[in-house]
Amino acid sequence: MNTALDGNHPTHWDRVYAEKDSESLGWYEPSPQTTLELLRQCHLPHSAQILIAGAGTTTLVDHLLDLGYTGLIAADLSAVALEKLQQRLGERASRLQWVVDDLSASKQLGAYQGQLDLWQDRAVLHFLLTDAEREGYLQSLKKLLKPGGFALIACFAPGTAERCSGLPIRQYSAADLAEWLGPSFELTTHQLQTYTMPSGGQREFTHALFKRHE
Ligand SMILES: C[S@@+](CC[C@H](N)C(=O)[O-])C[C@H]1O[C@@H](n2cnc3c(N)ncnc32)[C@H](O)[C@@H]1O
Repeated sequence: MNTALDGNHPTHWDRVYAEKDSESLGWYEPSPQTTLELLRQCHLPHSAQILIAGAGTTTLVDHLLDLGYTGLIAADLSAVALEKLQQRLGERASRLQWVVDDLSASKQLGAYQGQLDLWQDRAVLHFLLTDAEREGYLQSLKKLLKPGGFALIACFAPGTAERCSGLPIRQYSAADLAEWLGPSFELTTHQLQTYTMPSGGQREFTHALFKRHE
């Protein structure tokens, strides 16, 4: 794994992942059904290049490996998170590519320029609050995604909690995401999901699937 990060980074997330079991995290999903359902609608081949952006220790990776996907790339700001995910996967970890990078100021991910069939983000974009961070994320997305590729983005929806992991977040509707992504992306479908946290609390997620124009 490339851990050559510079800059302003990941103490909050490293601490969270070092201190807590994955199953107790406020975003843990044993089976990410909404994401898997929307991903199925992309009709991607098993060889598709899929970036799990801000992967943390998501169980999505286990499910995608079970389904036979061979082009998975797990990226996160937190090396601690990715190491925990690698430990859980055991020998299956070698089937993925691993990248420690900041999606809002990406460097290492530049190696995948124009190669991604799918950019998948659940609960990452909503932490980016400044115009510079949001613009940096959008630049990375546009640089890495193929024409005709998909972006599947899940964020807290309007009216739900205003913080996640103790940090302030920005809420998005599917229309907000569509406006922000701009005319080169078409909103294919979207869903509202009521997610139940391990603590029993509930959060509304906007899941939106976009296709980039050819
Ligand atoms: C709430 S967790 C969600 C994790 C995972 N997507 C899931 O659904 O389980 C947010 C994740 O985003 C990562 N993250 C936060 N800001 C990031 C950034 N600027 N670049 C890359 N990863 C980031 C954190 O380290 C953390 O793993």
